[in-house]
Amino acid sequence: MTARRIAFINEKGGTCKTTLAVNTAAWLAFKRGKRVLLVDLDTQGHAGKSLGVDVRNLTPTAFEWLTRDDVRLADVARPTATQGLSVVPAYKQLAELPQALSGDPNRARRLAKRLEVPEAESYDYVIFDAPPSLGLVTTNILVAATEVVIPVAVTYLSLDGCAEMVQTIEQVVADCALPELPVSLVVPTLYRKTALADEIVAKLQEYFPGRCAAPVALNVAIDEAQSHGKTIWEYAPWSRGATLLQTVAEHVERVGKSAARKSA
Ligand SMILES: Nc1ncnc2c1ncn2[C@@H]1O[C@H](COP(=O)(O)OP(=O)(O)OP(=O)(O)O)[C@@H](O)[C@H]1O
Ligand SMILES: [Mg+2]
Repeated sequence: MTARRIAFINEKGGTCKTTLAVNTAAWLAFKRGKRVLLVDLDTQGHAGKSLGVDVRNLTPTAFEWLTRDDVRLADVARPTATQGLSVVPAYKQLAELPQALSGDPNRARRLAKRLEVPEAESYDYVIFDAPPSLGLVTTNILVAATEVVIPVAVTYLSLDGCAEMVQTIEQVVADCALPELPVSLVVPTLYRKTALADEIVAKLQEYFPGRCAAPVALNVAIDEAQSHGKTIWEYAPWSRGATLLQTVAEHVERVGKSAARKSA
């Protein structure tokens, strides 16, 4: 069976892409016993760091994998403390990707190409942690993904940011002549109960009926877990933060099942 390839993406920064990508990936591995590959595609290296990987002096990383044919997926996919979860770390070198691939006419399909190997087929899920910007890396993610999850920080301008992201996806799909890339879930994040926040969540529910997750409220354990290089399931499994992130992970799992039913 081909893996679901889910991009956690939003061109706006600080919307909890990494937090949701890491903890959803870890939950699918530890709770559901799935084989999950988390691919960090951000120069900040936060996905690896959140899993306790010291990405600063690591090689090879996503950059070498994407630019050198002799670096195989098995060379970059590192096991984590969570059984079943491997991570492809990234760091600052990834900023050089556009220059390194400038001579490749198929540079937008590089990530998809590198996943066309039997090793990739052994994963049930491939999860991409996207950077907060547009450019070659984000285009590669949109080409390689089979669906996207958009975390939206419930703040002023967030609705506009979400609409921009949906437009970007449509543009890349059209430019690269790709099959439609569904937004399987929108997740309101950094939620605090205010009239404005509730208004924004209501609008997201209206725009994405059945595809808007329950809001993820602010919870300090989520932040703390990352500062310790741990998933919420390792750091504070009984916290409110764990319950909130589990609800998102379950929803991500569920939307895949309903998509599969539709195409059956
Ligand atoms: N529910 C939460 N409660 C409190 N803090 C949170 C919560 N979710 C995420 N955070 C914190 O918010 C910050 C931003 O989250 P995160 O790094 O996941 O966002 P991002 O979208 O990946 O950012 P970037 O665009 O820089 O990649 C982090 O410090 C994270 O620990
Ligand atoms: Mg991030």
